[in-house]
Amino acid sequence: MLRIGMLTSGGDCQALNAAMRGVVKGIYSKRDDVEIYGFQDGYKGLIYANFSMLTAKDFSGILTRGGTILGTSRQPFKLMRLPDENGLDKVAAMKHTYHKLSLDCLVILGGNGTHKTANLLREEGLNVITLPKTIDNDLWGTEMTFGFQSAVDIATDTIDRIHTTATSHSRVFIIEVMGHKVGHVTLHAGVAGGADIILLPEIPYDIDVIADVIRKRSDAGKSFTILAVAEGAISKADAQLKKKEYKEKVQKRKYPSIAYELAEQIQEKTNKEVRITVPGHTQRGGSPCPYDRVFSTRVGAKAAELILNQEYGYMVAMRGGETVKVPLEEVAGKLKYVDPNCSLIREARMVGISFGDE
Ligand code: F6P
Repeated sequence: MLRIGMLTSGGDCQALNAAMRGVVKGIYSKRDDVEIYGFQDGYKGLIYANFSMLTAKDFSGILTRGGTILGTSRQPFKLMRLPDENGLDKVAAMKHTYHKLSLDCLVILGGNGTHKTANLLREEGLNVITLPKTIDNDLWGTEMTFGFQSAVDIATDTIDRIHTTATSHSRVFIIEVMGHKVGHVTLHAGVAGGADIILLPEIPYDIDVIADVIRKRSDAGKSFTILAVAEGAISKADAQLKKKEYKEKVQKRKYPSIAYELAEQIQEKTNKEVRITVPGHTQRGGSPCPYDRVFSTRVGAKAAELILNQEYGYMVAMRGGETVKVPLEEVAGKLKYVDPNCSLIREARMVGISFGDE
């Protein structure tokens, strides 16, 4: 008997179900003696042994369904080694659940934080295979994560819609795109949507440069300006602060998010009306786009192959168009940032997009 535990952890995204379907279909294509244990709400389900036994049927018809049939939750890695409110040792509890069910392996779908805990479980002797999930596409070791392309499509659609209303009014529009630490979604949606200014956490901005771009556009007869701004966009001055100082500053900020701070500053400096759109969690909602359906099916099937070969301790990644295995210890704890000197940024600058820095 092959016993597999499965869980989805961290923020959800499109194609989680599609990826699990890929794993399950891949395994059942070679073996019938399979038991699947689905843990509810991520690591929480593994800690508190909250699971249900699933069959191939449960994974049928979910290729296009958003969200996750297992539920998910954020369980910060930094708290994993600390006991819960009742004194329970979480790591010991997860190991206990694993051994009690005589699992052969765990399939864990998640992003950065999830991978740190997955690697911890590997170090504790459990067999683990992970799949790269996050709209942010910030997982080190893979060129792509599922959810990213679907989120880019939604953020781009938002910018497209704003574009038509922007042309009717002489206004500045700010679209705040998800991404606190990295700007991959903002960069791609910004270029795809024809944003005039793109602000990323990786390229600190100068508000005077932004005001100047808006003024020059006005002078050239372009009365509106569209900014695609990542949640984690940061000014040059703030980027000089120590991490702790910046965190404190953000906590005290009178604005709900960076878009509102920018709006006030732009209004002051240019005397233009500014409007804000925050697509927020719509970027993680709905059906996966066709690219993500294909990609998640591929990494799911590759995970099945690894499990059938009893090759554990890997994340399935995409490199050069191929699905490959990457050791978990190489992935855990590393973020894949936007490289400010990458060719996409250079090309975007060449077509006149400003990153608010020069
Ligand atoms: O990590 C994915 C992500 O959607 C980020 O882009 C975003 O900053 C964050 O999650 C939002 O988290 P939550 O759903 O917990 O509000």
